[in-house]
Amino acid sequence: MKFNELIKQRESCRSYSTKPVETEKLTALIESAILAPSACNSQPWHFVVVNDKEKASKMPSILQGSGINKFTDSVQAFIVVCETKAKLMAGATCDSQHYAQMDIGLTVAHLVLKATEIGLSTCIMGAFAEEPLKEFLSIPSEVKTRLVIAVGYAKEEKIREKKRKDFNDVCSFNQW
Ligand SMILES: Cc1cc2nc3c(=O)[nH]c(=O)nc-3n(C[C@H](O)[C@H](O)[C@H](O)COP(=O)(O)O)c2cc1C
Repeated sequence: MKFNELIKQRESCRSYSTKPVETEKLTALIESAILAPSACNSQPWHFVVVNDKEKASKMPSILQGSGINKFTDSVQAFIVVCETKAKLMAGATCDSQHYAQMDIGLTVAHLVLKATEIGLSTCIMGAFAEEPLKEFLSIPSEVKTRLVIAVGYAKEEKIREKKRKDFNDVCSFNQW
């Protein structure tokens, strides 16, 4: 798929079939994700893939606490994206920036676009109960869980029209 087509096809899917996701496909997502760039190539991430049927069935209660993410009941696989401690080169840091969170965003972009390419649908979720999730998956206390990605087969093929701010409202050349 051409890049422009890929980015238009990718959307947050909130209606999944119960068809299981092949392990090879989940592996392919992570293989693409870990090729993402990161500050000082520190790769401050760890992915916990939850595809065991029983385990995945317990994820929705952790994801639905704040009243959203109700669609996760039928999701067969989740990828929990954790932020680990980044080892940055001396002199390459900047107090006003937190590079690891940017790195997580980039790796997740790789992951969801790869999913689109191989016929899977995804929804990135930032709203979940972090402590219960960490306990459930035995994630070490010093690790931050940043995002959970629902992965599966969409019930519907139809892609929504993208709603985005106008180009000129978000971009200017040579000065703000
Ligand atoms: C960091 C982040 C957190 C998000 N958290 C949630 C979430 O908890 N639940 C949800 O349904 N969608 C969530 N989304 C999906 C956004 O709502 C969605 O990307 C946005 O509305 C644009 O729609 P599209 O992805 O279909 O293009 C999140 C997206 C990002 C990037």
